[in-house]
Amino acid sequence: MNRIILCVDDEREILSALRRFLRQKAGRILTANSGEEGLELLEAHSPGVIVSDLRMPGMNGAEFLNHVLKFAPHTFRILLSGHADMEAAISAFNKGEIHRYLLKPWDPAKLGHAIEQGFEHHQLIQANLALTDSLSEKNQELEDLNAKLKQKTINLTEQLLHSERLSVLGRLAAGIIHEVMTPLTISVGWVETVSKSPNITEDQKGSLSIATEQIFRAASLMESIRDFSRKKHLIKTPTDANKLIDHALNLLIHPLKKKNISISRSFETNESINVDGEQITQVLLNIINNAIDALDPGGRITLSTSVAESEKGIRSVHITIKDNGLGIAPDIIRQIFEPYFSTKGSKGTGLGLSICKGIMDNHGGEINLESQLGQGTTFTLSLPVEA
Ligand SMILES: Nc1ncnc2c1ncn2[C@@H]1O[C@H](COP(=O)(O)OP(=O)(O)OP(=O)(O)O)[C@@H](O)[C@H]1O
Ligand SMILES: [Mg+2]
Repeated sequence: MNRIILCVDDEREILSALRRFLRQKAGRILTANSGEEGLELLEAHSPGVIVSDLRMPGMNGAEFLNHVLKFAPHTFRILLSGHADMEAAISAFNKGEIHRYLLKPWDPAKLGHAIEQGFEHHQLIQANLALTDSLSEKNQELEDLNAKLKQKTINLTEQLLHSERLSVLGRLAAGIIHEVMTPLTISVGWVETVSKSPNITEDQKGSLSIATEQIFRAASLMESIRDFSRKKHLIKTPTDANKLIDHALNLLIHPLKKKNISISRSFETNESINVDGEQITQVLLNIINNAIDALDPGGRITLSTSVAESEKGIRSVHITIKDNGLGIAPDIIRQIFEPYFSTKGSKGTGLGLSICKGIMDNHGGEINLESQLGQGTTFTLSLPVEA
């Protein structure tokens, strides 16, 4: 507890008398011969109580205590002076510059009581301030927690909506696929039979091969819908993300060459992740394919891997796929993970990114993106190292 007292008086005898009087009452006694010196000691030692004379050469007691009120308002201020100074003392009291006014020569009981009150007053204010500090700290913590909770609720609601949509879609898809696959298989059989007939012309053969191609396209669409709605069992093995990227790039070598797209790679880590390599390759293929679609000929795709650690100390490998293509308009950015959302007309099913999101969720990972219209898009896949 701060029991430092500061006495200010231009008369040395008074200071000595105060020192003797206060020896038992204060922890530390500081003395100053002038208001100026008093202010220096105030700044250096932050006393809890000040006893000051009124009449002093230079800065008088009222001026000195006025400064104290401004710079250290919680210090308890006692003014000591003679009868003749009554008016000045009352004015100082009314301005809040002093807490107590005592007459010289002082009554030891009254001065002793005022000083004790002063220390109590000071201690109470200090305790209050400490309490307010810790209260506002706790308040801040609560606000932070609240914000985190809100974000979690939003994320959970979105996840819930997504899985609800998927399950409805799944049930619907299973029925449709079953009904459509049968006629498709029968049609392929008939087309093959006709194309083997001896009287067929080259033109007709060409038409039939287009028909076969379209039937296979429809079948593969059915397959991707089935994959999408079915929660496939994961076969996880320790995998090098860089190898998965290289594998995906190899599979896409033709479309990349066709559009003359240059590839940059920056692999900062080869830390192994425990994932289903086939499924993560599918995610990479979907995202790189989207980048190819978004790029003009001669565009660039940059792929990188790095390790990041979350606040909770969870290490993840981050894979980023960046293109300098079309970019995505802010008003559709929330929709791109929805099943069947596509801006590519008949060229896209709109299932690519929702499949990616499903796979990343199953791995306990995340898929995020940043995009600027006309500048390009960066997708980031985060996969926990210890998944
Ligand atoms: N890198 C990208 N740059 C610009 N737009 C993108 C990018 N990636 C995705 N998109 C937008 O998101 C939409 C949805 O993508 P998603 O992969 O789900 O479907 P799709 O590519 O349209 O169809 P599919 O995947 O079946 O070919 C795209 O149609 C496109 O508008
Ligand atoms: Mg796609």
